[in-house]
Amino acid sequence: MKKYYAGLDLGGTFVKGGIVDEEGKILVKDKIPTGRERPYTEIAADMARLVKDLAVRAGLAEGQLAGVGIGSPGLIDAENGVIVYSNNIRWENVPLCGAVREQLGVPVCITNDANAAALGEHFCGAGKKFGSMVFITLGTGVGGGIIVDGKILSGATGSGGEIGHIHVRDEETEHCNCGGKGCLEQVASATGIAREARRVLAADETPSAMRRFEDHISAKNVLDCAKSGDALALQVTETVGRYLGLACAQIALTVDPEAFVIGGGVSRAGQFLIDVIQKYYDNYVAISANKGVLTLAKLGNDAGIYGAARLVL
Ligand code: BGC
Repeated sequence: MKKYYAGLDLGGTFVKGGIVDEEGKILVKDKIPTGRERPYTEIAADMARLVKDLAVRAGLAEGQLAGVGIGSPGLIDAENGVIVYSNNIRWENVPLCGAVREQLGVPVCITNDANAAALGEHFCGAGKKFGSMVFITLGTGVGGGIIVDGKILSGATGSGGEIGHIHVRDEETEHCNCGGKGCLEQVASATGIAREARRVLAADETPSAMRRFEDHISAKNVLDCAKSGDALALQVTETVGRYLGLACAQIALTVDPEAFVIGGGVSRAGQFLIDVIQKYYDNYVAISANKGVLTLAKLGNDAGIYGAARLVL
């Protein structure tokens, strides 16, 4: 009997889920609102219901669902199935795996959401041809996943790959939601890019196409304006690219991966963004001609589902 796996990508706003077969094909997928202000037991029950519903829609027979993988933001104790700390969902010490397993009666594994997306890209996306790679997701937050010899490297306490909280900027005055100051996430996440633009616009009266968005400006607005040659938007993009290039350079000389795979909503800006990061990355990594290549992710929003399923495969 063929086996199938469910991948769940737990986010602050939505839980995305899908049923994946052994070859890495998503048969059905869907998403439900997280409702993160509710007790975790209710969220776990909804996650289990989503899996049951997807299994029915995929036409799975009794016993064909072999396991469930979950990707969640934050620090994860994978061995015990516990979310140790998640600033995005505001959870501490939540035994999520046990709660989902109770409802479904199949093995449930968990990892960090960016680690799951890294596994997904490595399994069947842009990282397929690389034995070692570093995945960086630029979304509401900035997350990362390090894969060496095909395996996720999450470290002694689960903070391996928490690239978004690498300190890059001494002049930062505001706190990151992790409690730190000057984190990469504060400048290179979707929220960080929009904030950077608001700061630049408030600094003087220089005309800019970004002004029409007022305080509601998004990272996409900034990058679109930069693509059309707006000087202030280009200045913001250079700042974002510089700090990302700096972080990649430091990681290159620590991990020495074959590739950096850049994903998340912000990466929809495409090769334009990669080129800016590349310029600074090349400048900061001077000693290796063979350093890891920078490339765009391929699986979009599905990377987390593929990777979470891969976890149990
Ligand atoms: C969290 C990471 C997460 C990333 C993407 C960051 O704010 O600290 O754990 O992987 O956002 O969701």
